[in-house]
Amino acid sequence: MPTALITGATAGIGAEFARQLAARGTDLVIVARDASRLATTAAALQDKFDVRVEALPADLLSSEGLAAVDHRLADDRRPIDLLINNAGYGINGDVVATTRDDELRHLAIHVTVPLQLSQTVLRGMVARGHGRVVMISSVAAFTPLGTYSAAKAWGVSFARGVNSAMRGRGVSVTAVCPGFTRTEFHERMRVSTRGTPSFLWLDVRQLVRLALRGIDRGHSVVIPTVRYRVLAVLLRRIPDRMLARFSLAAASAADAGDTAASASAPASSPAPPAAIQGDHRPG
Ligand SMILES: NC(=O)c1ccc[n+]([C@@H]2O[C@H](COP(=O)([O-])OP(=O)(O)OC[C@H]3O[C@@H](n4cnc5c(N)ncnc54)[C@H](OP(=O)(O)O)[C@@H]3O)[C@@H](O)[C@H]2O)c1
Repeated sequence: MPTALITGATAGIGAEFARQLAARGTDLVIVARDASRLATTAAALQDKFDVRVEALPADLLSSEGLAAVDHRLADDRRPIDLLINNAGYGINGDVVATTRDDELRHLAIHVTVPLQLSQTVLRGMVARGHGRVVMISSVAAFTPLGTYSAAKAWGVSFARGVNSAMRGRGVSVTAVCPGFTRTEFHERMRVSTRGTPSFLWLDVRQLVRLALRGIDRGHSVVIPTVRYRVLAVLLRRIPDRMLARFSLAAASAADAGDTAASASAPASSPAPPAAIQGDHRPG
């Protein structure tokens, strides 16, 4: 049985990868910080799909947590056939407003952590002559919208370069670029998605199904759904200034929506968190 290690497997996109891979009979090593949620997720997957699921609680932004996952990936006696670098979050605010520490942690979760884990696992995969590495990037990689876009663009570039270098060695590296997907992402980032048109929302099951198809085929970049592939082409052609203006307009429309909604809410309704902003970057 092949074994996959998925970071951030207790929620959203990572949890759906865990379900679909378990349904195919893949054993799993799942990583997240919340140990009790991780144990519950592991038990549920094991019960439902009759596969082996190892829970590896770790904060990838701590040196001990990263070392624990790295160590597991380097263990040749229990080889990992598929690594999915999925754990991640968005940073809210532009680069002059955020703190240096927040930016460096955000850069680490999207760049240096997946770089280290991929480098470790790729060494074993190349020696064994097979394996797959996945970077969960975003369509934001094709937009000039802040340091989240910049970090996600690194994942696409890394996958394209390393995938080419790995050709003929039985190993592939794929960047998956989802658009808006309903997970815990936007809530954790404390941004409103109120004005996001419904046609832009992806179904997480369909997203992962399409992603796995591209990963199985060893593609460098997978942009799930035709509508997002078209959008990605357009995004690369629209001038940066126009994109920025569109983003600002969407943000103020959402702000207006939020204001109207809170004005009409009953007095007993909890107020929306003060930090929620009408920011319309794709996740
Ligand atoms: N949702 C979207 O619209 C969207 C679109 C494009 C790309 N993406 C990308 O997709 C990936 C998954 O996002 P999602 O939407 O599924 O987010 P999510 O629902 O918030 O899930 C995030 C997962 O990552 C784990 N995690 C977060 N920080 C971690 C850390 N320091 N160490 C270990 N685990 C950590 C979380 O568990 P714990 O909190 O217990 O650690 C959770 O399991 C991210 O890389 C995101 O950038 C999302």
